[in-house]
Amino acid sequence: MTRRLGPDQHGIDEAADILRSGGLVAMPTETVYGLAANALDPVAVARIFEAKRRPSFDPLIVHLPSADQAFALATSVPDAASLLAATFWPGPLTLVLPRAANIPDIVAAELPTVGLRVPAHSVARQLLERVGTPLAAPSANLFGFVSPTSAAHVLDGLDGCIDAVLDGGLCTHGLESTVVAFDEDRPIILRHGAITREQIAALCGDVGEGARILERPLAPGQLARHYATRNPLRLFDRADQLPAPEATAALIVIAGHIPDAQRKGNLSARALAPSGNLTEAAANLFSALREADASGASELRILTCDDSGLGRAINDRLRRAAVRA
Ligand code: TXA
Ligand code: MG
Repeated sequence: MTRRLGPDQHGIDEAADILRSGGLVAMPTETVYGLAANALDPVAVARIFEAKRRPSFDPLIVHLPSADQAFALATSVPDAASLLAATFWPGPLTLVLPRAANIPDIVAAELPTVGLRVPAHSVARQLLERVGTPLAAPSANLFGFVSPTSAAHVLDGLDGCIDAVLDGGLCTHGLESTVVAFDEDRPIILRHGAITREQIAALCGDVGEGARILERPLAPGQLARHYATRNPLRLFDRADQLPAPEATAALIVIAGHIPDAQRKGNLSARALAPSGNLTEAAANLFSALREADASGASELRILTCDDSGLGRAINDRLRRAAVRA
């Protein structure tokens, strides 16, 4: 049985009790819902992998209420990491740093590093304070599928497999955090996200991308196929490349209006950000993919956006979702 808890003091207390006794709670964050367990309890963390059917080579992000508490779990902190933390924490940024000895191997998938994040969502912050232990939390979805941005999405995949979901409403960013590792003092973006490369470069200067420190992918956000929908997804860069509308197709336009030629004839057509505001598009992306996937359309057609700023993170998710098994 998965309990539904409200985001009030009672719900937060109950969630904290479950976590302290080794259980699993899906918690809202400003990016997506996370499936949380006590990060210092390897048995609790193992339950996350089981519930998500997540491969154990995939390390988890550890969430803390403050930068001081986060950095206490790292054996060294490059200046660039301190600068990024001072600017973007609490917020949608994960810093990969050499891990302290008390982080269990299973959290880090035996890497010498740990991903640390101080979330901004008030319910996540209250829960972290109340629980008093760091929380390991991957996105609260079955491995490889679209991340959840509401409690209902969490239950779609995990009802009955986790102890509780703390319902904090819709996530504001809708895209997972930006994951950054360091080559000495140089930031290396392992996964694009809500904090853009431009924002990081403005602060730190030179920024690298997508490094593989070991022979395996460093972030499964880097696996070719991830964020999968059930039905095939086709991407188009320009409106004039879209095929003629069809009653079996669901069209999603990331930025701007639905092209005139596509207004009629598709099963559905949805513009995520008619004004072109990519923040709005990101917030609606995963729920739009889920809805289109569940709508009975046999093909999802997506008109992508420009590959800069937040558009890079959005298009990255779409490209990985479009790769078929
Ligand atoms: O916004 C987010 O980051 C959400 C919320 C819940 O915080 N969490 C999330 O977790 O998206 P997950 O597990 O779905 O993705 C975490 C990413 C993975 O791509 C993982 O490989 C990478 O972070 N990661 C975690 N620890 C790492 C490490 N030590 N080295 C390299 N990559 C790491
Ligand atoms: Mg994920």
